[in-house]
Amino acid sequence: MINYGKQSIDEDDISAVVEVLKSDFLTQGPRVLEFEKALAAYVGAEYAVVVSNGTAALHLAVNALDIPEGYEGLTVPNTFAASANCFLYNRLTPGFADIDRRTYCMDPAELEKRITPQYRRWLPFPPAARQNGSHRRYC
Ligand SMILES: Cc1ncc(COP(=O)(O)O)c(C=O)c1O
Repeated sequence: MINYGKQSIDEDDISAVVEVLKSDFLTQGPRVLEFEKALAAYVGAEYAVVVSNGTAALHLAVNALDIPEGYEGLTVPNTFAASANCFLYNRLTPGFADIDRRTYCMDPAELEKRITPQYRRWLPFPPAARQNGSHRRYC
């Protein structure tokens, strides 16, 4: 698992980035395919596709769910704009279910209140929940 609030970047990581910066390929270079293959192998998947940022990843993840236009997707209010925008990018309506004040994660009771016939998916991103070691992420 990648810790959200305490990343680990060592000299090898920095050297790898500098190597790419000095190469002919800043985008779509051979390192992308190399990384996708390594990631797929690591998670035991046949394929992996990497994108440039979290916003693009959420856009594609929701798109892959193939939810018909007009449905609603739920997320929490204490998250990135991308968590709601990924629904808009896919012609879905974003909605919000409030968090549990103890965990900073989506409150299951609030989620149940928000479930309507237009409900299809919820995205439980709780960025604040990982900042404090006393809170366990359960979403
Ligand atoms: C849950 C979540 N959503 C969206 C984003 C936005 O990602 P980016 O700024 O890379 O587009 C982040 C970034 O860390 C994130 O953690």
